[in-house]
Amino acid sequence: MKELQINLKFHSCTLEELPQEDQELIAAAKEMTATSYSPYSRFQVGAAIRLQDGRIFRGSNQENAVFPVGLCAERVAFFAASASSPGVPPVSIAIAAQTEGAFTARPVTPCGSCRQALLEAETRFHQPIRVLLYGTEGIYVIPSIQSLLPLTFDGSELA
Ligand code: THU
Repeated sequence: MKELQINLKFHSCTLEELPQEDQELIAAAKEMTATSYSPYSRFQVGAAIRLQDGRIFRGSNQENAVFPVGLCAERVAFFAASASSPGVPPVSIAIAAQTEGAFTARPVTPCGSCRQALLEAETRFHQPIRVLLYGTEGIYVIPSIQSLLPLTFDGSELA
């Protein structure tokens, strides 16, 4: 039997270490936590996605009394971007979250469904989406969605 291994290489940094446009994207994600509708979890998530043409689309989590009906911040932002600018590849996404009035110390990572949703854009446009995960104790910079979703199902097997 052969052992196989998957590695994830990513960076941890401070806000000041990032280029201006990444700092802007994180600021937008942080701002968007204020628009979260999350009476059930009280966990306010904001996301901002930058497209290749420089436009930024924003989202926040939107919950519902029927829990599975709600949607994460990342997909709200991504679907808004895709619906408004079809055909323009996303290049980066920033995510931030607040709970009990403070931003989380550790970065919040996108859920499996959001990873799968965003992977579709990487597959469609053949280019990675950088992921900027904000935490007050540090920011994670992840090179692609695919790296967060190893052994991916990307539809290439579909006829
Ligand atoms: N949530 C997001 O919006 N994005 C994430 O990355 C993690 C979780 C939302 C879903 C739900 O409204 C709340 O946070 C608690 O799971």
